[in-house]
Amino acid sequence: MVHLQKYFQEKNGVLYIEDVSSLELIKEFGSPLYVTSKKTLELNVDSYVNAFSNANFKVKFLYAVKANNNLTIMKLLKNRGFGADVFSDGELYLALIAGFERKYILFNGNSKSEEEIRMGIEAKVPFSVDSLDELKTISSIASEIGEEVKIAFRINPDIKPETHPKIATGLKTSKFGIPWKEVINAYKEAIKSPNIVVSGIHCHIGSQIIEIVPFVEALNRVFDVALEVEKLGVELQFLDIGGGLGIDYEGKGAPTPDDFANELIPVFEERSAELNSNPELWIEPGRSIVGNTTILLTKVNAVKKAYRNFVAVDAGFNLLLRPAMYGAYHRVVVANKMNEEAKEVYTIVGPICESGDILAEDRLLPKVEKGDIIAIFDTGAYGFSMSSQYNGRRRCAEVLVDGGRTYLIRERESYSDIVGKQIIPPNF
Ligand SMILES: Cc1ncc(COP(=O)(O)O)c(C=O)c1O
Repeated sequence: MVHLQKYFQEKNGVLYIEDVSSLELIKEFGSPLYVTSKKTLELNVDSYVNAFSNANFKVKFLYAVKANNNLTIMKLLKNRGFGADVFSDGELYLALIAGFERKYILFNGNSKSEEEIRMGIEAKVPFSVDSLDELKTISSIASEIGEEVKIAFRINPDIKPETHPKIATGLKTSKFGIPWKEVINAYKEAIKSPNIVVSGIHCHIGSQIIEIVPFVEALNRVFDVALEVEKLGVELQFLDIGGGLGIDYEGKGAPTPDDFANELIPVFEERSAELNSNPELWIEPGRSIVGNTTILLTKVNAVKKAYRNFVAVDAGFNLLLRPAMYGAYHRVVVANKMNEEAKEVYTIVGPICESGDILAEDRLLPKVEKGDIIAIFDTGAYGFSMSSQYNGRRRCAEVLVDGGRTYLIRERESYSDIVGKQIIPPNF
């Protein structure tokens, strides 16, 4: 039996999101459908805020927009005092629309174009700088515009957390950041560079990390660098340890924001006593804020006994890439047969013309039939935001549930969205 988290429940054999039936949602908004529980989002925000409320230093949460860039969700987080971590001009554009306070929108990225850099400077947001080339570009555009830009360097901390190699970002071999032992030279360059104000240090070790020790190691690395940077006469305003706290996809447990805070706060308090400045701690959670808030509902088009028992649904890796990309596990249930006995083993596949279009493998479920609705859990992070129109498939709608109320927060795409910005030259 799949474990259901708070705000997702079974009533008369049907899956409910807060007080709303999943089947009613499909009737009203069509399938497939992403459904987000607002109360779960609020619970996750409260867990972070409460976990760090006893710290004797200022903590700022910068929501990692890449996890889920739905504007309604971003606005809810902004209203709760979050800043934003953005990784592109498009994410910056969305963060500005959502109204995040600009000094807490950190412009991240390892390969920013000049156009993106200009946009960030004009928006007056701080930058996480990934290379000396980027520093030079920022300095020259900032001088041309006549703006001062606050920067942190992203350090590569050479830390190997237990996670999928594709989402471990602080490895020595990763493309991100400047090796932590060499970054002081970059800071020396930065303080000499016109229109650059050195303000912080940035680090991010990866995503879906389910142990706390690597974060503590990373924080210590950041402090080691901070001591050296201060010797250059810099007053540090923030130390940013990125995001990455994992969530419990498999029902085997995962650390909570409390566990995270209990380990990090004492280290921060102890080590910041070594500093002259009084930096804020910045944290950039994405997955642990939105991951478990959302399910993907998808209708069964066909059930087929072949070499395996296949359930073919109307969502594929066009809408949820994680299983195909990382071999990720998501819990699934049959939303209209919640109290039926699980009897058969099924592999759930999407409609995409690729053998790798598998959403869930070898799952014990009640007898599945055409027309049933499958619910895939924990799809709020890196779900819709990694979706595509591959195979000419329109992206689905997104709905937010708040108690008994539902809000359409993104319309299903139309065929004109499939045509997009294409131009057929005249006379073709
Ligand atoms: C720089 C940075 N910050 C924050 C995040 C968010 O990580 P997560 O969603 O695991 O919390 C990422 C994700 O890769 C990232 O690259």
